[in-house]
Amino acid sequence: MKAPPETLWQAVWRGWNSLAADLYKTMLGLMLFTSFTGFIVLSYAWSVFMDEVQRQTKELLTAQFQLPPSQLDPLFAQARWRSETTLNVDEVRSLFMFSLVLLFAVLALLAWWSARRFARPLTHLSAAASRLTTGDFTARAVLSRRLNRRSDETARLLRDFNVMAASLERLERERRYSVAAIAHELRTPVTVLRGRLEGVRDGVLPATSQELEKLIGHADLLSRLIEDLQLLSLSDAGELRLDLAPVEVQDVLIRLHADHGLKARAQQVDLLLKLPSPPVKVMGDRRRLQQVVQNLLTNALRHTPPHGTVWIALEAEAGAVHIDIRNTGTGFTAEALNRAFERFYSGPDRERGRSGSGLGLAISKSLIKAHGGEMRLFNTETGAGVQITLTALTGDEPLNRATD
Ligand SMILES: Nc1ncnc2c1ncn2[C@@H]1O[C@H](COP(=O)(O)OP(=O)(O)O)[C@@H](O)[C@H]1O
Ligand SMILES: [Mg+2]
Repeated sequence: MKAPPETLWQAVWRGWNSLAADLYKTMLGLMLFTSFTGFIVLSYAWSVFMDEVQRQTKELLTAQFQLPPSQLDPLFAQARWRSETTLNVDEVRSLFMFSLVLLFAVLALLAWWSARRFARPLTHLSAAASRLTTGDFTARAVLSRRLNRRSDETARLLRDFNVMAASLERLERERRYSVAAIAHELRTPVTVLRGRLEGVRDGVLPATSQELEKLIGHADLLSRLIEDLQLLSLSDAGELRLDLAPVEVQDVLIRLHADHGLKARAQQVDLLLKLPSPPVKVMGDRRRLQQVVQNLLTNALRHTPPHGTVWIALEAEAGAVHIDIRNTGTGFTAEALNRAFERFYSGPDRERGRSGSGLGLAISKSLIKAHGGEMRLFNTETGAGVQITLTALTGDEPLNRATD
C-alpha cells in the first residue's frame, strides 16, 4: 500500500523537526547567545572604562588647575554633545545595525552549513535504512568524498551499514534462489525416475537388472542431493556434528589419489600427488575431510582439458596444514572467484553441462569451517587452485582424544 502524498504543511513540519533543523536551531541559538553575551560584556566593560577615564580626568584637572568639580560637569556634557555631533550618531547607529544584521546573516549561514554537514550523512543513512525496511535490499548509504577519506564514527557507521545491507542482499538472493533451485534440482531426477518407472510398468522398457540398476542410480542421485541439503541446513543451524579423531592427512590424500586415477587416465589427465614424508595430522572427521577433497578433485578433473594436469599437494608449516588442489585449464571466471561458494552457483558450467548441483564448494566450505579451518579459491598462471588450511595436530597430543 502506498502512503498518501505529503502536503506542503506536513513537509514543512517534517523539515522543521528534522535532525538538520534541530542542529541548525541549536547551533544558531548558541552562536547568537555567545555573540550577544560577548557584545553586552564588551559594551559594559567599555562604559566602565570611559566612566573611569572621565573620573580620572576630572581629578587631574581639579588637582592641576584647582578647578572645582561642579564647573567641570557642564564642560564634560559639552564635550559629549560635540562628540555626538562630529561623529554623526545616526550614521554610527545605522553602521552598528548593519554590522549586527551582517553578523546575524553570517552566523545563520555558518550554522546552516555546519548543521547540513553533520546531518547529511545521517539523513542519507536514514533514507537507506527506511528503504531497507520496505524490502529494498539494494539500498546503500551514500558516502561523500569527504566521508570516504575519514574513519570517524559517522563514516564507520555508514560503511558498516553498507556492509550489513550487502550481506542482507546476498542472503536474500540466496534464500530466494535456493528455494527455486532446490525445487529444480529435485524435479529433474524425480521426473527421469518417474518416466523410467512408467516405461517399465507399461512394458516399454524391459525390467532387466540393468534397467533397475539405472533406476537405483537416479534414486541415489536424489538421496545424495537430499543429504547435501540436509548437511547445509545442519551447518546453518550450527548443528553439524563431526566425528573428531586424529587423522593422518597423507593417508586421506593417497586414498583419494588412487580412487581418481582411473578417471584421470580416461581423461588423459596427469594426477600428481606431492606429500611431505613426516606424517601430518589434524583433528578432524575423516569421512567429511575425504568428502571435501573428493569434491575438489571432481571439480578439478571436470575443468581440466585433455593432456592437462591436476596436482594434489600437502604442506605443513608453523602449526598450519595446507592442502592445495590445482588444475590446468581456464581457471575460475571472475564471477566464480566471487560466488563459487554460494549455494547452487554453477556459473556458465550449467549450460555447458559440466556441472553438478552447484552445492559442492558450498558444502566443502561449511565442512572446513566446522573444522575451524579456511578455504580459498585462486587462479594460477596455468589454471585454477583451491587451498584448504587446517590447524595441525602436534605430535605430543594424545592420539585418541576424540574417543576418550
Ligand atoms: N577447478 C575449477 N576450475 C574452474 N572453475 C571451477 C573449478 N571448480 C569450481 N569451479 C566453478 O565453481 C562453480 C561451483 O562449483 P561447485 O560448487 O563444485 O558446483 P558444481 O561443480 O556442482 O557446479 C562451478 O560450477 C565452476 O563454475
Ligand atoms: Mg562441484
